[in-house]
Amino acid sequence: MTQDKTADSGIENEVSKGNKFQKPKGVHDILPDTHEYFTFVKKVVRHRCRQSGFRRISTPIFEFTDVFKRSIGNDTDIVSKEMYTFQDRKGRSLTLKPEGTAGVVRSYIEHNMQLLPQPVELYYIEPHFRYDRPQKGRFRQFWQFGFEMIGESDPALDAQLIHLAHLINEDLGVAELFKLQINSIGCMKKECRPRYMTDLKNFYFGKERSLCENCKGRTEKNPLRLLDCKEEDCVILAGLAPTLKDYLCPECKEYHEQLLDLLKALDIEYVENPSLVRGLDYYTKTVFEFWDRETGAQNAIGGGGRYDGLVEIMGGQPTPAVGFAAGIERIVDNMKREHIQVPRKDNLHVFVAQLGYEAKKKCLKLIQKLRDVGIKTVGALGKASIKAQLHLADRFQAPYTIIMGITEVRDNTAIIRDMKRGSQKIVSYDKVLDEMKKLIGEESLDTYSPGEVVY
Ligand code: HAM
Repeated sequence: MTQDKTADSGIENEVSKGNKFQKPKGVHDILPDTHEYFTFVKKVVRHRCRQSGFRRISTPIFEFTDVFKRSIGNDTDIVSKEMYTFQDRKGRSLTLKPEGTAGVVRSYIEHNMQLLPQPVELYYIEPHFRYDRPQKGRFRQFWQFGFEMIGESDPALDAQLIHLAHLINEDLGVAELFKLQINSIGCMKKECRPRYMTDLKNFYFGKERSLCENCKGRTEKNPLRLLDCKEEDCVILAGLAPTLKDYLCPECKEYHEQLLDLLKALDIEYVENPSLVRGLDYYTKTVFEFWDRETGAQNAIGGGGRYDGLVEIMGGQPTPAVGFAAGIERIVDNMKREHIQVPRKDNLHVFVAQLGYEAKKKCLKLIQKLRDVGIKTVGALGKASIKAQLHLADRFQAPYTIIMGITEVRDNTAIIRDMKRGSQKIVSYDKVLDEMKKLIGEESLDTYSPGEVVY
């Protein structure tokens, strides 16, 4: 008999309570009420992206592990600690995507998108996976929407992309809660970031003992990350460290100044933050995040930046690019906290109650006819008593109930009951649809033509 490894490792309490399963730590069910928020966020994103000429892309949930290692960087937290990596049956190493940019760039190269008009503008709305320490707003499976502009470099593109993110925040009613933090981390030209890195390493040389456990290993491997550590001693040291801004090459400096000028022209408030470096290695020049005005970096709803070297690192031609992604759970949390209402589409119009087999048969047809004209309908065809069905109609909060019993079948009629007023009237079966449409109002009908399908 094989041993149950889960039970063996002592984590069986996480799998189930008694004989009831529970979800793994760090993931969550998106229940119907929350889905209304998710749907709204997705609609706003789709709408704004379409307006701006972006087209939607979905890359696979998993990629070869090297796609992420090479792009995000081996020494980042994401790659070194947070990836869900597994081997398939042929021993290939695969990883659930921890972020969207690497897959999009892989796809851009694989599908020769450099032959399309540039920049190629793509957006995605996808689940991502990180073995993060679960806490408020930090999950192991979370949704991001993101957009990437690949193929051109100009501060105006960075400004447009930031503006797009800002407009989405405004549409969602959360723009006021967040402030844009922005920085330039320079380029890979010798006199720019590499010169800074040498001086930064020299600065930290001999000071390792004052750093937190996490940062001790970073002085050689990933010294930029030392700048955005939130531990007190590390913050003090980072405040004394040389500033990247003083090392930017003339081109990066001018690029950044122009970007700030364009943001002003677009009326986008920002804070210049010299210690903003981001947790992914692929960035060059512009980096930015939207920070919670009160709690700061910990609850950033989104971030992005320019990544001019990534396409080449991933095997393509040198191609500049810029992108952004935001966490949908964090946005929805903020919307709920601010009591922002989203349009409810799930509310029912009518409940159909029936008594007797012949009535049930007629109702079965009627329900579909109602639905076909956009009347949101449920029927309790499995329930026996009218009392139980009316009770259910109340619980569904349907404003109307259609009732058919033996008499109505015989007379070819139906009863329409106004649930709020408690009044009811008898109408001819053939007139039920028209009558219901009148009561509900054409504008409230939930109709669509295939050209308008919203998913
Ligand atoms: P990121 O800053 O790692 O950037 O993630 C973007 C956003 O995803 C974060 O600001 C946060 O709202 C959300 N997020 C990240 N991790 C979690 C988590 N464990 N739980 C819940 N939400 C989370 C990127 O992913 C880059 N790919 C952005 C980008 C696109 N850069 C260029 N193009």
